[in-house]
Amino acid sequence: EKGYKNVEVFSKEHLAVSLAYDVAQLSTKFTKERGAFTVALSGGSLIKYLRKLVDSPYAETIDWSKWHVFWVDERVVPKDNLESNYKLANDGFLSKVPIPPLNVYSIDDSLPPDGAADVYETTLRRLVTSNVIATSTNGLPKFDLMLLGMGPDGHVASLFPGHPLLNEDQKWVSFLNDSPKQPPERITFTFPVINASSNVAMVVTGAGKSTAVYTALEDDVKTVQLPVEKVSPYEGELKWYLDKGAASKLFKE
Ligand code: 6PG
Repeated sequence: EKGYKNVEVFSKEHLAVSLAYDVAQLSTKFTKERGAFTVALSGGSLIKYLRKLVDSPYAETIDWSKWHVFWVDERVVPKDNLESNYKLANDGFLSKVPIPPLNVYSIDDSLPPDGAADVYETTLRRLVTSNVIATSTNGLPKFDLMLLGMGPDGHVASLFPGHPLLNEDQKWVSFLNDSPKQPPERITFTFPVINASSNVAMVVTGAGKSTAVYTALEDDVKTVQLPVEKVSPYEGELKWYLDKGAASKLFKE
């Protein structure tokens, strides 16, 4: 059997247990080292794998007052819309833990979306300057933990196959109005920000993702590069959390 240093395969139940354990460890480490823990959330099924954090022992042992929460990407919809990544995270997780409301940095849904993207980038710059968010060697925001999911097409954040934003190297946060997945208008972190992170957790479940997982991790003769393959933290760690379905094409000789 082949093994990968940074890939673990779990049942869905154990994936949630392991993810919660790792998030809690990172929370303790960064709270001690920096006095803050900065976490960037994606949408999708990821949020339900964080739910163990709402229960014992983590609910009591995590110092939630040190958490600062951000969004990797957001759909351009009102915050109370069922499609909103903010709403998904708030209903499923954030509203159940005592994170100070001022430490929850949602993307402004009252502005025109290109302006909201710029304002979010300005917020990140301010928090880098004040050292709430750490800084990478090249001056980018270095999130303590970036939580990513992956679509069956290999997209991460709102960075889709073939899209020009895959190569964005100036903006930290960008608006796009041509997402191939609904809704078409979105705001997203770019790869420079994703790859400046201290820790990236890639949480991927379901057999529908198995081909993209195989392409990303094992296919040596591929002709296309998936967005997920651009995830490569240059001074941090990447860990894949897979369930058996997502891993079903791996480890075959
Ligand atoms: C979106 C989704 C999407 C999602 C991935 C993985 O904005 O359309 O949030 O980007 O994160 O497709 O989602 P699942 O883990 O639910 O499959």
